[in-house]
Amino acid sequence: MEDLIQSLESLRTAAEQEFTNAKNQESLESLRVKYLGKKSQISQSMKQLSGLSPQQRPVVGKTINDIKKALNICYQVRERQLADEAKQKKLAEERVDVTLPGRTPLLGRKHPLTQVMEEAQQIFESLGFSVAEGPEVERDYYNFEALNFPKDHPARDMQDTFFVTEDILLRTHTSPVQIRFMENASPPVRFICPGKVYRHDADISHSPMFQQIEGVCVDKHITMADLKGVLELFCVRMFGAGTTLRFRPSFFPFTEPSAEVDISCVMCNGKGCRVCGQTGWIEILGSGMIDPNVFGFVNYDPEEYTGYAFGMGVERIAMLKYGIDDIRLFFENDVRFLKQF
Ligand code: PHE
Repeated sequence: MEDLIQSLESLRTAAEQEFTNAKNQESLESLRVKYLGKKSQISQSMKQLSGLSPQQRPVVGKTINDIKKALNICYQVRERQLADEAKQKKLAEERVDVTLPGRTPLLGRKHPLTQVMEEAQQIFESLGFSVAEGPEVERDYYNFEALNFPKDHPARDMQDTFFVTEDILLRTHTSPVQIRFMENASPPVRFICPGKVYRHDADISHSPMFQQIEGVCVDKHITMADLKGVLELFCVRMFGAGTTLRFRPSFFPFTEPSAEVDISCVMCNGKGCRVCGQTGWIEILGSGMIDPNVFGFVNYDPEEYTGYAFGMGVERIAMLKYGIDDIRLFFENDVRFLKQF
């Protein structure tokens, strides 16, 4: 027994020394296997216990356990030391180079249509218009019927859209918000309705989805002169001083009389160019005096009140303001295009 204890003790001395001197994490790991693993001499010596007398067994057993514990501590201490050293070394290598140029974060910006939309809203708000919104999925009643487009009216043809059911469709203009707003407010009213609209239309100047800003003003003694004044002011602020307007007779079922409004071409200052088709004028909106029949749908007294309405295409305005000749550029979201605005 003495011999066994003796050899275990010298094994412990040797192991302690080796653990303390381990050069790196790999060699420490192989030492752990060698001295503390299942096949290590210490683990194996447990098996020899059965050959000892009952008095000797606990003595040797305790020695083995003590050695195991001690070596485990030795191992852990060295492991911590080596991990610390590795960390320090890494930190020393990874010094921050303050002379490197910084990385500027990429700054986003608002989409040109959003910018134009916001600018237009600001102009109208400064003129006392409030802002109203309505649903893009709309009822036939609001999109057509209450705007004086009876079923099978030929004016519906110009505004074909996606029908969800016979009565529910993607709105073709922001005019249904006129009705929704006036149903819930008695005159006088003055509001705009910005929003997306949908039509069966697609080429370089038409998109199946586009945006409009509707404007409505109803009060006593409102005339076409008020409409002209507001639109002129809007165009001068949006496109700059010197912009002139032209009213052309037109037809909309919900206005009478109706007018389409052109502005003097911003590209050529009215001289005539490719963009305005050599006419010097570009159409930007539809407008008119609200038809008494529409007042009938919202219970306004047409004998007492008159009003005007207009609806402008936001993409059109942005194209003119920035000299963009293809509407599809707005929706491709190519950053090289978008970051110019
Ligand atoms: N809603 C019409 C359109 O989209 C434009 C319009 C609005 C005309 C208001 C007159 C009055 O074509």
